[in-house]
This record gives sequence, C-alpha cells and structure tokens, in this order.
Amino acid sequence: MPPPELEISVVAPTYREAENIPLLATRIAGALRGREYEIIIADDFYDDATAKVCAEVAATIPQLQLITRTTNRGLSPAVLDGVAAARGKFVVVLDADLSHPPEKIPDLVAKLKSGESDFVVGSRYAPGGGTAEDWPLLRRLNSYVATMLARPLTPLADPMSGFFAFRRAEIPPADSLSPIGYKIGLEIAVKAGHARGRIAEAPIFFGDRRLGESKMTIREQWNYLRHLRRLYHYKWPKRMEALQFAAVGGIGFLWDALFYFGLQAAGAGHLWARALAFWPGVTSNWFLNRVMTFNARAHVSPPRQWAGFVAVSSAGFCINWGAYALLTSHVLFFMEHHFAAFIAGIFAGAAFNFIAADRLVFPPK
Ligand code: GDD
Ligand code: MN
Repeated sequence: MPPPELEISVVAPTYREAENIPLLATRIAGALRGREYEIIIADDFYDDATAKVCAEVAATIPQLQLITRTTNRGLSPAVLDGVAAARGKFVVVLDADLSHPPEKIPDLVAKLKSGESDFVVGSRYAPGGGTAEDWPLLRRLNSYVATMLARPLTPLADPMSGFFAFRRAEIPPADSLSPIGYKIGLEIAVKAGHARGRIAEAPIFFGDRRLGESKMTIREQWNYLRHLRRLYHYKWPKRMEALQFAAVGGIGFLWDALFYFGLQAAGAGHLWARALAFWPGVTSNWFLNRVMTFNARAHVSPPRQWAGFVAVSSAGFCINWGAYALLTSHVLFFMEHHFAAFIAGIFAGAAFNFIAADRLVFPPK
C-alpha cells in the first residue's frame, strides 16, 4: 500500500545542528498539531550526535526522519535531497537553528492553499517582519548589500530568505537547478518562472540562532556572488554579455591608451604608436572575452580564435574610423565637435564588434 499523501513536508538542512533539533521538532509539532505532516532533517554528516538526537526525538515525534548525507555536501543540495524525499502536498524549507519561527509555517502554507500564490517566502522585510535588534553594523550592512544585489531578480523584498514554501508538484526539475552555495530559495524563485503576482511574502521575525555556530563564511559570500552572476546570466543572457563585452572593451581601451602614450614617451612616432598600441588591447579583449563574456561558448583553438577576433576588430576599427571621417566631413555638428564624432565612432565600432564576435568568433556550442 503506498504511503498516504501528507499535507505538509517540513525540510530543514543541518550541519552540526544536533543541539537545536529537539526544540525545532517540538515547535514544528506544536505549530502543526492536528495536521498530516512530516519533518525531514537533511543532514551533512559530522558525527553521530545528530543521528542519536533524531532517534530520541522520533520516539515522541514519529513524523521526524533523518537523511544522512556524506557526498555532494552543502546546504542547497541537502535541501534538494530533502525535497526529493518529501511526500507532502506542500513543502516548507527552514533553517534548523530556530532563526526562522516554526509557528509561521501555517501562514506560509495558507497563502499556497488559498490558491493566491505559488511561492511564499518568510520575509524580514514584509510589513510586520523584522530582525533581531542586536546585529552589529557590519553584519547589517553586509546583509543589506547582499539583499540589494538580488532585488532585481525577483519581486521579493527578502530574496535571501531560507524560509520558503511551495507546492511539491511545482518544483522545477532538480537538473535545471544549479545553485552555488546557500541561496536555494532564490534559485527556485528565479527559475520556477512564477508570474509576478504569484510570489508572496509572509512577515517573520528573524531571530538570533539559538545554539551552536553560524556556517556562513567568506567563502559562502564569494559563492553567493558567483551564484548571482549565474542568475543574472540566466535571466538576461544578451544584456549580461553586452555588459561584460563593454567592460572588457573598457579594459582594452586602457591598454590601448597606455601603449599609445608609453611608446611615444619611449621615442616612437605617433603613427607607429597608434598602429602598435592596437595589439595589446585587442589581445586583452580577445582573452577576457574568451574566459569571461563568452566562457560558456565552444572553445575554438586559441590562435585561430585570436586571428578571427583581430579580423573582426580590424573591421570594427574601420567602421569606427569610417563613421568618424563621414561625420566630421558631412555633418555640421560633428564638423565643429570632433570629439563627439570620436565617441560616436567608438560606439559604432563596438556595436559591430559585439555582433560579429557573438555570431562569428564565439559561436554557440
Ligand atoms: N546540510 C547542510 N549542509 N546544512 C547546512 C550547511 C551544509 O553545508 N551549511 C549550513 N547548513 C544549515 C545550518 O545547519 C542551518 O540549519 C541552516 O543551514 C542555515 O545556516 P546558518 O549558518 O545558520 O546560516 P545563516 O543564519 O548565516 O544564514 C541564513 O541567512 C539567511 C538570511 O539572510 C541563510 O541560510 C538563510 O536560510 C537565512 O534566511
Ligand atoms: Mn542561522
């Protein structure tokens, strides 16, 4: 006989969290009394303490089960393993350290149940929510900047939250998710593609962790930035490429100027300096575009790709120069403002370079 379908699966990722599990389970059980639920502890093994505590707790709260993980470690994959094992119609994910109040689980589920939302986040920044007062200034600032960086990606005021709920039937397939680090909630919110009005927030008070230590490290913060970059690429692929292409071009411009002036200072004539300075700039642009802007593209052999890039850039430079010459000889405004034509030429050449590099030099796999 298949197990009966449950209403709610609560998934808590844990690493060295044994001492918090008894109270966590007790508070969840209190909040969900009278309902069909399960508690899944998705634990990255550290020592036997967690298994021992879970066995003790399960004697009085049989809804609790433990998944012990030893490979593919990390908060996000642990959550995904917990979700894969879940049987409930609704899944709620929360931290095990009691920063997230289990008493709010019914609020999150209610917004799913009413049919009003597809993804609900326990939010510090929704009206009525909040954070413990005693955070030092640096931690507040850090959290604020991290939140602001993620704001454009979703309509959420608290996109960083690890307290969230959704219908199990609607989670995107695990192989379409690729979080790096902590923010699995953000990953799902971005990739599930919910319509704007279908994402909601329920206010929570984010308390200080009860016992034990935070696992947040500098390394996780770096992972967060890598994760953000990936999500921006996912959401706005062409705009991100154009932006990086422009940034790479800016660096190339600096090389160009450095060699142009440096060679003249070393005694070269300005025409020679102009001709030679092109090469370090164009090589830097090719290299950075290869490893950054178009790093997901097919890897053509470097010498061939470099030659292609130089060819395209030379054509771009002709367009730049042609636009400059045309504007300064035919358009009154530019006849009087050569520098405006210089800038216009750069933009025309750069636009051509981007389109040609995108289509020809770094073709899709
Ligand atoms: N399985 C597993 N593996 N669990 C982990 C790991 C890991 O590598 N690292 C952390 N966890 C668990 C912790 O045991 C805890 O239950 C939860 O994930 C959150 O970890 P904390 O170390 O307490 O995180 P935090 O308080 O700094 O960070 C939290 O910041 C957000 C607010 O900005 C996030 O994790 C969010 O959930 C939270 O909302
Ligand atoms: Mn915490």
